[in-house]
Amino acid sequence: MDTKIFTEDQLDDAVKLLSKGELVAFPTETVYGLGAIATNEKSVKGVYAAKGRPSDNPLIVTVSDEKMIEKYAKEVPERAKKLIKHFWPGPLTILLYVKPNALPDAVTGGLDTVAFRCPDHKLTHDLIKKLGYPIVGPSANTSTKPSPTTAEHVYHDLKGKIAGIIDGGETRVGLESTIIDLSVDTPIVLRPGEITPEELSEVLGEEVLINTGKVSDKEIPKAPGMKYRHYAPSAPVVVVDNSDDFSKIDFEKDMGVMALDSILEKIDLPDENKFSLGKNLVDADHNLFGGLRYFDDKNNIDRIFVQGFNQGQESLAYMNRLNKAAGGHHFN
Ligand code: TXA
Ligand code: MG
Repeated sequence: MDTKIFTEDQLDDAVKLLSKGELVAFPTETVYGLGAIATNEKSVKGVYAAKGRPSDNPLIVTVSDEKMIEKYAKEVPERAKKLIKHFWPGPLTILLYVKPNALPDAVTGGLDTVAFRCPDHKLTHDLIKKLGYPIVGPSANTSTKPSPTTAEHVYHDLKGKIAGIIDGGETRVGLESTIIDLSVDTPIVLRPGEITPEELSEVLGEEVLINTGKVSDKEIPKAPGMKYRHYAPSAPVVVVDNSDDFSKIDFEKDMGVMALDSILEKIDLPDENKFSLGKNLVDADHNLFGGLRYFDDKNNIDRIFVQGFNQGQESLAYMNRLNKAAGGHHFN
């Protein structure tokens, strides 16, 4: 299959392909998603196949506005309305009870809940609006690889497997949306993202729990995706929690390093072994997946040292993704 790249003035061509049941990747403010009409079971199954994703890992349903979820949610509780009013469109995914038989089991993984997301991205908003149906939207990477933050990343992983990619340039945030579960008594953040638990708690006016993400293979995790290896380049990743420790590492030519500019400039390695995370944590969120992909494509690198951050809830999302990529491996 030929994978077409669409520019923003070719949105109608992308809509046509989706209407025919084809798969088209789309930009959001977090990472690129892999779209297919959410009510078309055959297309949804194609999404699992293209990504190589385990079939018990449910998909996000991406909508263009709040109104669209009413057809698919069993009910939209007051708490959800508050969050939607405050954070949508934006990087917040909300888990609600699904209306029975409204969506194929392939979308929900057979669970009684469904995850709704309304991205803050004009192209994607217009795409879904024109299509008239919500689209599923898992990150548009091959399963276990870092999520794509450019159309090139998507092409690298999925060329020949999907009909098209809408190129919206680099994504703004760089890490996936915050997921909050509202199907339980006390709201709980299942995956940290740019919107922090504190901000959610403030808007809701009630306590918000944080899932620690630790699940054994035998448990059924709340967010099924959490049990799988993730974001991992082929070379082992080591987290360097204390930036002073970079001076203790004996860097060799088969090592890569990802850190802020202020740290990189003190490390004696060729430029190609260094990947800049930028100037601060917000830059680092934006650059993390791109850096992991950069080293994944180099076969002369045997180990990658990556800067850790300890900035309270602001660094929760970054550390969650980095710890997964590193499989819990820290320097020292
Ligand atoms: O920012 C994002 O959310 C991106 C962009 C493309 O929208 N999408 C994304 O989708 O990250 P994905 O599939 O890569 O991650 C969604 C996570 C998975 O871990 C999945 O297990 C979980 O959400 N999830 C989906 N539906 C669920 C449900 N009903 N109950 C619990 N977890 C669910
Ligand atoms: Mg993903």
